[in-house]
Amino acid sequence: MRWPPEFGKVSMMLEDGFSRRFHYLRLSLTEACNFRCTYCLPDGYKPDGRKSFLTLEEIRRVSSTFAQLGVQKIRLTGGEPSMRRDLPAIIETVSQTNGIESVAMTTNGYRLKERAKIWYDAGLRDLNVSVDSLDARQFQLITGENKLASILEGIDIAQQVGYRKIKVNTVLLKNLNDHELSQFLFWLRNQPIELRFIELMQTGEMDERFKKHHQSGLPIKARLLREGWVQQNRGLTDGPAEVFSHPDYLGKIGLIMPYSKDFCSNCNRLRVSSTGKLHLCLFGEQGINLREYLQNDAQSSELKKQILSGLSSKRETHFLHQGDTGITPHLASIGG
Ligand code: 5AD
Ligand code: SF4
Repeated sequence: MRWPPEFGKVSMMLEDGFSRRFHYLRLSLTEACNFRCTYCLPDGYKPDGRKSFLTLEEIRRVSSTFAQLGVQKIRLTGGEPSMRRDLPAIIETVSQTNGIESVAMTTNGYRLKERAKIWYDAGLRDLNVSVDSLDARQFQLITGENKLASILEGIDIAQQVGYRKIKVNTVLLKNLNDHELSQFLFWLRNQPIELRFIELMQTGEMDERFKKHHQSGLPIKARLLREGWVQQNRGLTDGPAEVFSHPDYLGKIGLIMPYSKDFCSNCNRLRVSSTGKLHLCLFGEQGINLREYLQNDAQSSELKKQILSGLSSKRETHFLHQGDTGITPHLASIGG
């Protein structure tokens, strides 16, 4: 990209100093969540009275400005996005933004059963649902909620409604769900779902729980390859998951291994938090405050300038290996 960038040109593109391009934005709608996942909000969400989350108008400006900068896909995250009462209006606004080709959402599935159709009708097409265990008791132990059956029903309904892509996120947890691989594989035989095992990432508030529960994805990869799963080639716009498929299975398996070599070289995402901060990395810095540039449409070019100059400082990799988790207290705070 030429510097300084020429604002207003259609060809404007988000690219950092390491030639990584960004077509994908993760936009957090709230920090609130009704689950208490052991690795995220073990004591539940504690509202901080002073915080207010982006309004529908501010969200409209975020999505249209990033779209003008070449972003084509927006994923709505949280906290739990369905805690927002205006979620259908948000989905509609983002999906009607010029240039946005795909709207996805990551949810804990709590309201999926009742709302899958409403969200679909508003324009949502791709869903990621978190399912950390297929055993109801284990599920409750991990998330604090006895909701497994209802969430699996929600996934069935979402399939019937016609969602284009449904992925399931499972955080790998030693001694909590690492013995369930066979059940998950069995489930995938007839489910056209991509199940993604995510290695536990250390965040600021996580103490000895990280050491206790972190489980590498590499033994799973070895088992999959032994059992005839084949790793797919990565497309240019694919994220950091290594994806495997098998002729006997309708489902696929993705492995997200943030501690593996080269994880960051495929980084294709930027994040905007629910309070309007641009985060260049999950494990980054304070975040760049965009909110003051989201107050009226006339600020769009100033907003672009902030985004582009922020991007020029994106680092090549995180420093998790050195135990530096950045300042992120837990992923609910900036939207996983
Ligand atoms: N490590 C790995 N995954 C996490 N998630 C939340 N916190 C962590 C963590 N510390 C996952 C959730 C959800 C996704 C958005 O991020 O389980 O599936
Ligand atoms: Fe809520 Fe997701 Fe955090 Fe679990 S991981 S507590 S569902 S925000």
